Amino acid sequence: MTRPLVLFTDETDLDPVPGRTLLEDAGCDTVLADLPVGDGVQELPDGAERAVGLVVGYARIDKPLLDRLPDVGVIATMSAGTDMIDGEEATRRGIRVVNLTSAATEEVAAHALTLALAVERHLRESLRVTAEGGWTDDVDAVPRRLSGLTLGLYGFGRIARRPAEIAGPLVGRVIAHDPYVETAPDGVELVDPDRLLEESDILSLHLPLTEDTRGVVDAAALARMRRGSTLVNVSRGELVVVEDLAAALDSGQLTGAGLDVLLGEPPAADAPERTDPRILVTPHVAFLSEGSLEHYVLDPARNVLDWLRSSGRL
Ligand SMILES: NC(=O)c1ccc[n+]([C@@H]2O[C@H](COP(=O)([O-])OP(=O)(O)OC[C@H]3O[C@@H](n4cnc5c(N)ncnc54)[C@H](O)[C@@H]3O)[C@@H](O)[C@H]2O)c1
Repeated sequence: MTRPLVLFTDETDLDPVPGRTLLEDAGCDTVLADLPVGDGVQELPDGAERAVGLVVGYARIDKPLLDRLPDVGVIATMSAGTDMIDGEEATRRGIRVVNLTSAATEEVAAHALTLALAVERHLRESLRVTAEGGWTDDVDAVPRRLSGLTLGLYGFGRIARRPAEIAGPLVGRVIAHDPYVETAPDGVELVDPDRLLEESDILSLHLPLTEDTRGVVDAAALARMRRGSTLVNVSRGELVVVEDLAAALDSGQLTGAGLDVLLGEPPAADAPERTDPRILVTPHVAFLSEGSLEHYVLDPARNVLDWLRSSGRL
């Protein structure tokens, strides 16, 4: 029997070697492509047309690509989102799409809280003062008392439930909006989207990127928020309209933001958000820990193997 071919579509910051080795030891061939994230020419390596499985970083998986890969039956992502994949086309072809749902739940939750606390405690400003030789008298901004604040969670899935538990004792109140969730644990109040925006002092986004959620934090949403509130985004850059966020920071409607994800990553070396004192940007590392890495590096290959075995191809 021909060894099934698994195509790794794009290089990410994650090492593809352990996943490729796992698949090859199990009887597969693997090949690594360099498909573009977003627009760009999709060049496939020789022989890639016979691929039966894809392991995807952030490359665009659309109909024209799938037309050239007619035997693909499984797509495993190396991240939690599937927004890079044309889901309708995959479903139409009967392709199984498997994402990494729980590889870094605790890490992303901890990172969201880290950003929220760092922004609220004006950590960036304090570190600047220290680095420049100053001390307490040189600090301008006075942080808000956490116990007086409401933490709002936009989306109440796996990740959002952790900050709800951990931050509960720190902040005054935790509220959440999720149209697909009907009950919440003690200490979390489910509200409609308008109340979420109007009553949150810290709004943290825990949503998948879909056509419904793209640009969900736009000028209208920001205008509804409490004046002086802060925004945390560890989910996807496309959830926030960048120009509207900048305008809200300029007008003082938002005091600050903590962002682990941006629209267009990585940003240019001289991108203003890298140095904007009102924004704390981390380089898409919310998922990262020694514990989560093993899952990110190996689970996509394991997911492909599961499918190959269950469909009798291996
Ligand atoms: N920065 C990182 O390193 C990193 C790592 C992992 C995940 N993420 C992001 O975190 C997101 C959330 O992950 P998760 O594991 O909690 O996913 P999840 O699927 O468990 O939770 C997402 C929740 O969003 C809800 N939702 C969907 N549409 C909504 C809408 N319009 N309004 C309100 N809620 C809506 C869903 O009902 C679900 O409960 C992922 O989609 C991914 O983008 C980022």
